[in-house]
Amino acid sequence: MPTTTGMKGGGYYDANSREQRSASQIFLPWLEAAIADLPEPPPHQQSWNLLDIGSSEGANAIYTTERLITALRENSDLPIWALFDDLPTNDFNQMFLNLFPTGKSVIPANDVYTAAIGGSAFGRLVPPASLHVATTFNAIGFFETRPIAVLPGFILPMRPNPQAPREGVQVSEDELIPFQKQAHQDLCHFYRARAAELAPGGKLLVQIFGRNETHSTGHGICDVLSDALLDFVEADMLPRFFYENFIFPASYRNTAELIAPIESERELASAFRIEQVEARDVPVPFNDAFTANEDRAAWAKSYTGFLRAFTEPVLAAALPDGLPQENTIEKIYHRIDRLLQDYPDRYEFHFISIATLLTRL
Ligand SMILES: C[S@@+](CC[C@H](N)C(=O)[O-])C[C@H]1O[C@@H](n2cnc3c(N)ncnc32)[C@H](O)[C@@H]1O
Repeated sequence: MPTTTGMKGGGYYDANSREQRSASQIFLPWLEAAIADLPEPPPHQQSWNLLDIGSSEGANAIYTTERLITALRENSDLPIWALFDDLPTNDFNQMFLNLFPTGKSVIPANDVYTAAIGGSAFGRLVPPASLHVATTFNAIGFFETRPIAVLPGFILPMRPNPQAPREGVQVSEDELIPFQKQAHQDLCHFYRARAAELAPGGKLLVQIFGRNETHSTGHGICDVLSDALLDFVEADMLPRFFYENFIFPASYRNTAELIAPIESERELASAFRIEQVEARDVPVPFNDAFTANEDRAAWAKSYTGFLRAFTEPVLAAALPDGLPQENTIEKIYHRIDRLLQDYPDRYEFHFISIATLLTRL
């Protein structure tokens, strides 16, 4: 079973994901430049086939795909399939509203055909050797399945942030091992599926939230979520077993982990050439606004919205029935907003965006 049902729908993710766009667009120039070298599709194919994986409601995915279509159109008038994938539980209605806001396609280029695909990034999504460009942004950090392992002392499979210590919050190196194995295996599944789907010469751009030597994208966001949940446990509004069992099912990798399967698995090493790999501490729109206006309340509101868009579906699915208070989920995000306003330094947030550009051999 996938570890998330998708993002908070009904336009909420679109309205609260400028940070993800900042993290993906920084790497688009790699692919825009590489598109010029794509081998022409064979005559029987008659189209360029693009697939974005983990597109959510689509605002960011449509933006990135449009940029790639513009690059393709500089050299070719061939028809284009623009395919958008996400888990079957995703809000695809919102995606189609974004694609056809007035009944006409929002993509201005000629001869572009769009379609949605429901399926997991870790499995096959399209026929063999049919794709010329595949992309994924801010998506495959979510585990394919939850490892059979416990993590009673924190909500994220990562060493807790030394900048936000709290009594009882701890994770040992041994506890992390099953999650590290799972994260590696997930990437192997992802790369194998794309190796089957990409035509020779095809390009794969993989970008995810990750970590570098100093920061992790998981810091700040998971610290404030963990603190809010523990405050609720201490106030008897949540049972302690809930905190001990809850895991936010994401891996924050470094660049070595991102390309490890290509370097260590023989069939993947012969399927792909690594063109680029990099980690960037990207601009975070709500931090930039805070620096400019010093408005803590506005910063906390945007930070909470950003966090809520990708955590609420996971949290809502995990909360036990029969809690002592109505609307516990609303209250948790209210508490998060309060903590952020009171302790902005404790929850400092850096978006470490990691990416690699690969060519299918
Ligand atoms: C944070 S959103 C990213 C959306 C968009 N790509 C962006 O950068 O703004 C992550 C998306 O990945 C999707 N996702 C998570 N696990 C997935 C999987 N195994 N297969 C496909 N999509 C997945 C989620 O449903 C969600 O829509």
